[in-house]
Amino acid sequence: MSKIAIIGAGQVGSTLAFLVLEKELGDVVLVDCVEGLAEGKALDIMQAGALAGLENGVAGYDDYSRLKNSDIVVVTAGQARKPGMSRLDLLRKNSEIVSSVVKEIARFAPEAVILVVTNPLDVMTYLAYKMSGFEPNRVLGQAGVLDSARLKYFLARECGVAPREISTMILGGHGDSMVPIISQTTVSGKPLIEVLSEEAIEMVVEKTRSGGAEIVSFLKTGSAYYAPATATLTMLDAIVKDSNALLPASACLSGEYGLEDIYVGVPVRLGKGGVKEIVEIDLTDKEREALHKSASIYRESLRVCEKIR
Ligand code: APR
Repeated sequence: MSKIAIIGAGQVGSTLAFLVLEKELGDVVLVDCVEGLAEGKALDIMQAGALAGLENGVAGYDDYSRLKNSDIVVVTAGQARKPGMSRLDLLRKNSEIVSSVVKEIARFAPEAVILVVTNPLDVMTYLAYKMSGFEPNRVLGQAGVLDSARLKYFLARECGVAPREISTMILGGHGDSMVPIISQTTVSGKPLIEVLSEEAIEMVVEKTRSGGAEIVSFLKTGSAYYAPATATLTMLDAIVKDSNALLPASACLSGEYGLEDIYVGVPVRLGKGGVKEIVEIDLTDKEREALHKSASIYRESLRVCEKIR
């Protein structure tokens, strides 16, 4: 039975704990710095599980020593984006939180895989890699699965088909510079470029780019969590079941796609131990250029982050 720790019992963390229980992926330990929060959420989730006859455990603590023997630690601790909050403010706050959390992971769960969800994603994942001292394949971030799901949803709506008929992938950084791989996107098996006009594709991509911000503007406080938690569950499922699923993830590059010593969204094979392989798919020149541009934007945030540290 896998032991999955989730740090941060807020919207994303607690929703993920519930999904893990429902999917019977493993036992969950939920940890939050706010006293009683993780414990209360865990009790509520366990009581829902009792109705459904689910037997795995979800336990909540405000104590990092409970991370001991975790196979995977998911980091959702941090502040969610609030309207009016600058990216730099978010970067500063979440850098402090992620640094302190990762020190505890390295102390109590030195063999674990770290899956980062806290934004700004690629920078926080790189920070987790540096602070943990873990091998790069054991530290990865969740963004591309969520972004691809958003694109799939908007494309399905535009094309009038079920989302399952869309095959697509978003690479690059999680944010405005995300790189949708339109050249490989299909609708019911047909290339997207034969189904929608260039303008329609651009409109859908723009909607996807601002997909997270649109939800923030509706909610007023807090940000999306059902789709982020479900995307994280998809990655956990591949790791726990050692499925080798090909999924986009923020992973450490060492020469792949012509990029080095950075975390950015690329297709990976996921299984036990984290990233098993970074897969280099065919990109058009335009897509490759956009991936490099996205990486350079991310390097800039990283410099800011290093200054804060
Ligand atoms: N240790 C443990 N928990 C912490 C710490 C810490 N040092 N600092 C903050 N937390 C907890 C908060 O107490 C809160 O319960 O992290 C939780 C964050 O929950 P929410 O504010 O509800 O945020 P959420 O919507 O879950 O988003 C979390 O995921 O998708 C990203 O952008 C999102 O970065 C954000 C993260």
